[in-house]
Formats: sequence, structure tokens, C-alpha cells
Amino acid sequence: MSHSYIDSYLGQELTLETITPLYKNEGHEIYWLGIDDETAFRCNAYLIKDNDEYIIVDPGSRSFFAQVQERVSQITDLKNVKGLILCHQDPDVAASMIDWLDFNPEILIISSARTNVLLPHYGRSDYEFYDITEDNSYSFKSGRKLTFVEAPFLHFPGAFTTYDNESSFLFSGDIWAALDITWNLTVSDFEEHKMNMDLFHLDYMASNVAARGYVRQLDGISIEAILPQHGSIIPKGFVLDALEYLKNLRCGVDLVYSDLSV
Ligand SMILES: [Fe+2]
Ligand SMILES: [Fe+2]
Repeated sequence: MSHSYIDSYLGQELTLETITPLYKNEGHEIYWLGIDDETAFRCNAYLIKDNDEYIIVDPGSRSFFAQVQERVSQITDLKNVKGLILCHQDPDVAASMIDWLDFNPEILIISSARTNVLLPHYGRSDYEFYDITEDNSYSFKSGRKLTFVEAPFLHFPGAFTTYDNESSFLFSGDIWAALDITWNLTVSDFEEHKMNMDLFHLDYMASNVAARGYVRQLDGISIEAILPQHGSIIPKGFVLDALEYLKNLRCGVDLVYSDLSV
């Protein structure tokens, strides 16, 4: 039996007032926090719960901090937020780390070494840092694990993605991000979705080699759903199409210097 709720939201209107469960199984839960960022650059913040441990994936900008906090407090006492995963340092991903640290200085910052060079520019460097570059997995007290898959130059040199071993969900950050003003939690038409992903990838992602190199690193990993930081969630039925999309992607310097490409 699947413990993922993602397919059940296909084509459904969801409320932004409450958080939306995406996965539940024996103390392990995943939520889409549903902040009402209704721009084309809509940011997705996610919450992973493992028993009494809570980790926010890409908490977002300072302007949504109060709303993200309010959403999390619908599930648990805010003191239970143990860590923030920051897939790179962009302000739409990471700026609210300063507000979370001001709220609770004990919060663990989980990120790559290259990202961590830049994070102190948000105003604090006195945090506990979990370096995914040194240890590519994080274990909850239950023994369940998150596995980090580095994604160099997609789009930041130190970008990485997070695979939740229990749910097989892949939190992909800016990879497979899509720009779209119409609001849908899950992709229903992949051909149309490709155009929305192109709007982001062609300008932001470094190159086809970077994209194919990342896909190669995912070899052998079974993916139930792809949860990007912008745009709709890609459900299992389109995961192979999504991998194929990245393999064939020509973007970034492939296009800017197309005359130099082989
Ligand atoms: Fe970014
Ligand atoms: Fe982003």
C-alpha cells in the first residue's frame, strides 16, 4: 500500500490556509507548507517529520518566515524544528535561516560546504553546521535516513538535492523547477510542464553536461515523486519523463555560447 498522497491531489484545488500532507507512515510524515506566494516564482517549502524530529526543506525568504512558522505550528511546537535543509544559498531558499536562528539558535543548518561559505552573509555564523559534502546522509533517531545527492552547477556549484529513503521522495531544489502562474500542486500534463520548466532551466542551469552528470548520480535510486522548490510536484508517473527531460536539456552556456558547443 502506498503511503504517498500525491496522486490523490491530481487536478484538485487545495487550500493555502492549512498545510497539505504528502506522505504518512508510522511516524514519518511529509508536508507541503502551502505558503500563499502566488507569483510565477512560487516557492515550495516542505516539512519532514520523523517521530519528534522536524526538518524544514528550503524554508524560503524572510518575507514568508511568519507564514512558514504559522504553518509549521499547525503540526508541532516550533521548538521541535531541529534543522533546515538549504539546497543552496539563494535568498528564496535560505534567507529566513536568520529568523529561524534568532528564534532558536540550536537549529542545525544542513547544507554543502560551498553554500556554507556564503550563508553567514545573512547575518549569523554561530550556528551548528551539518556538512553534506562530508557526510552524504543524515540519520533520524529512528534510523531512517536522508541521502544527499550533489548537483554541481544546477545551478549553484554547491547545489545538492535530498532523497528521503523512507518515502522515496526527491527534494530537488531548483532542479525541475517550473515557472507558472496557474496553481497546481501536481503535474498533470508533462508536455505542458516542460514549457514551464524550460522558462527556468534554459536561463539558470549551467549546461547539458551538468544535467546529465546529475542524472547519472541518480542511477539505481527509485524515485516516488520529485518535489522542486518552484512549481508543481512531479508524481511517479512522470519521473522517467523528468529524467529524460534533464538528459536532453540544452541550457545555460550550451545556448549562450552555442557557436562553441560540440
Ligand atoms: Fe536558486
Ligand atoms: Fe529557487
